[in-house]
Amino acid sequence: MKRIFVLSMLISILVAGCTKQDSTDRCAGTNYDIQFTKNPAIGGVNNGSLSIFYPRGDTLRYQLNNGAPQANPNFSGLAPGTYLIWVINQKGCSDTISTTIEAYGPKYAAVKQLIAGYCGPCHLNGGASGGKNLDTDASIVSSWDRIRLRCVNGTPTFMPQNGQLTTVDKQKITDWVNAGHRISD
Ligand code: HEC
Repeated sequence: MKRIFVLSMLISILVAGCTKQDSTDRCAGTNYDIQFTKNPAIGGVNNGSLSIFYPRGDTLRYQLNNGAPQANPNFSGLAPGTYLIWVINQKGCSDTISTTIEAYGPKYAAVKQLIAGYCGPCHLNGGASGGKNLDTDASIVSSWDRIRLRCVNGTPTFMPQNGQLTTVDKQKITDWVNAGHRISD
């Protein structure tokens, strides 16, 4: 009796084992909460970059679009465009996430950089002092006139609140506005 029980256990384990190796199920449940940082391509040069910081591991490989899988989770020299990021494990199972490498013009890149340097925490990382959050490119572009008025003209008062920008940084905003205040300028 006991022997039959053990035998049937063995058979069911074997059957379960076979089911798991079914090609359609083999990679089921391969889900990664892929997290990454990225930088745009600036000034018409293919200098965008992308770095996957989760998941990381010796057995994982990383791939962009149809490129070669690599152990290094950092990619540089990227052209602007849409990329599918692949994280592939040692079983050959993978998960993906899509992202875009933006094309910034040099004047916009300079403004974006000064905002990152001066406007946090009040307007960055979710901060919205005066109802103004500047985390996204779209929010910066649509706020171009307010950014110029507050940071260059000081109307009604200067931003940042605790001290004006340098003359050089004010000029960066003026140059971007005069060029057309787009991401591509
Ligand atoms: C220390 C916090 C702080 C920093 C840093 C700061 N701001 Fe502000 N900002 C405020 C506060 C508070 C308000 C709301 C009161 C006001 O409008 O004066 C505001 C309002 C604004 C507004 C919306 C009001 C309007 O006139 O449209 C804009 C745009 C703005 N800031 C731009 C900027 C920019 C650009 C920077 C960086 C160069 C910056 N601020 C840096 C605190 C800050």
